[in-house]
Amino acid sequence: MCPGSFDPVTVGHADVIARASRIYDEVVVAILHNPAKTGTFTADQRRELILDALGAEVTNVRVELFANTLLVDVCRELDADVVVKGLRGGTDFAYELPMALMNRHLTGLETVFLPGDPRFEHISSSLVKEVARFGGDITGLVTDRVRDELLARIGGEAQR
Ligand code: PNS
Repeated sequence: MCPGSFDPVTVGHADVIARASRIYDEVVVAILHNPAKTGTFTADQRRELILDALGAEVTNVRVELFANTLLVDVCRELDADVVVKGLRGGTDFAYELPMALMNRHLTGLETVFLPGDPRFEHISSSLVKEVARFGGDITGLVTDRVRDELLARIGGEAQR
């Protein structure tokens, strides 16, 4: 199970998902959408962008949407044994550890951390959006499709 918000998917996310797909027979990417939070992309768009970023050669990954539910319940429903998360560094670890411990407390669900590829250490969805919003070049941080869709959205925001 590779859970997240993916608003939008970055090359760092795609790397962790692709690596998980080489370790495990079957991988579910769960977009855990919080309807109370206004994201930049809708859950369906996030799904499309993840599938596009993974490409046709990754065949054992499926992408599913969940709203208003605990990750442990999604894992129970799908019979997923392990959560896989990428860690860019100590800050990620500090953010992820309480969630991993809480998930284990709730149902015994284990989390496996993969070291993030250092090439992608500086990349996060929120920083990508901030750079794009102020006119910076986000090429290579996300797929070209994500870049173009993000710029189209931000252009729309600027006109409002
Ligand atoms: O990409 P993100 O935003 O860091 O992902 C966080 C996410 C969505 C995996 C986390 O907030 C989550 O698991 N949400 C579902 C609700 C839940 O189970 N909350 C308790 C976590 S211990």
